[in-house]
Amino acid sequence: MRFLVLGAAAGGGLPQWNCGCPNCCDARSGKIESATQSSLAVTLDGKDWAVLNASPDIRGQLQNCPQMHPRSLRDTPLASVLITNGDIDHIAGLLSLREQTPFDLFATSEILEVLAQNRVFDAVSAEKVTRRPLQIGKSFDLLTGLQAQVFPVPGKVPLFMEGAEVKTDLVGEQTVGVRLSDGSKVAYYIPGCAEVTDDLLVILQDADQVFFDGTLWQDDEMIQSGTGVKTGRRMGHVSMSGDDGSIARLQHLGAGKTFIHINNTNPVWQPDGPERAIVYNSGWTVASDGMEIAI
Ligand code: MLT
Ligand code: MN
Ligand code: ZN
Repeated sequence: MRFLVLGAAAGGGLPQWNCGCPNCCDARSGKIESATQSSLAVTLDGKDWAVLNASPDIRGQLQNCPQMHPRSLRDTPLASVLITNGDIDHIAGLLSLREQTPFDLFATSEILEVLAQNRVFDAVSAEKVTRRPLQIGKSFDLLTGLQAQVFPVPGKVPLFMEGAEVKTDLVGEQTVGVRLSDGSKVAYYIPGCAEVTDDLLVILQDADQVFFDGTLWQDDEMIQSGTGVKTGRRMGHVSMSGDDGSIARLQHLGAGKTFIHINNTNPVWQPDGPERAIVYNSGWTVASDGMEIAI
């Protein structure tokens, strides 16, 4: 399996259009690398690709990767798209894929329903883009020879569907992780996860590679940085640091570990910062746009 990080950042990207936080300023000035929004591509043969989450930046992401360019008059190496939740950073890119070229669109029924309820997505013709509802735990071919399964991880409904009260630990069809296998190696992609539960630790035991929610370094990061009022937990994202954080909870996992879906406020964007050193010393890497990982 070959992975290509199309977008390493969380919703908003780095820099985010309206943000003057230190990371966004550094990205704007070129002091640190910029990053586009949440998406990962995978291939077995280098010819057919699946894209995991369709970010609002997908047009530029596909343009920046020669592997993803059309090979004939109307064509794409993109054979399928899989959506892990209904958040804007994971679905809005579908609108850029509307130009009458067929591909398979995989998601749980609940996530497909979010698309069906928002009529703008009817522009992505169901005749060409076949909606393929996924059952939790049931294997399917994401690409020829690439088996996938989705499983629930704690999360919440999309931001734009939140009601007065929000449960952030829903375990069902609205937020899923993906298991990928070529028959020998196993990888997991979990860009949004509110808690590293014991159940999740069991699931991940056979992992050779994990791409995991790296939204925040610490739970009150948005509050501390003055950029927002919500905690990570309230947003449905477990933090990297802390006793319940992903670094501590996944420390015994004998797999390649890569943080992805990283918010622009996260100090790990700073290559020389102490948080980045902790991440790398704990056996993790921080994704960046264009990063390739083969297992
Ligand atoms: C998230 O990951 O929490 C969402 O992408 C937030 C959003 O939709 O802005
Ligand atoms: Mn997001
Ligand atoms: Zn910022």
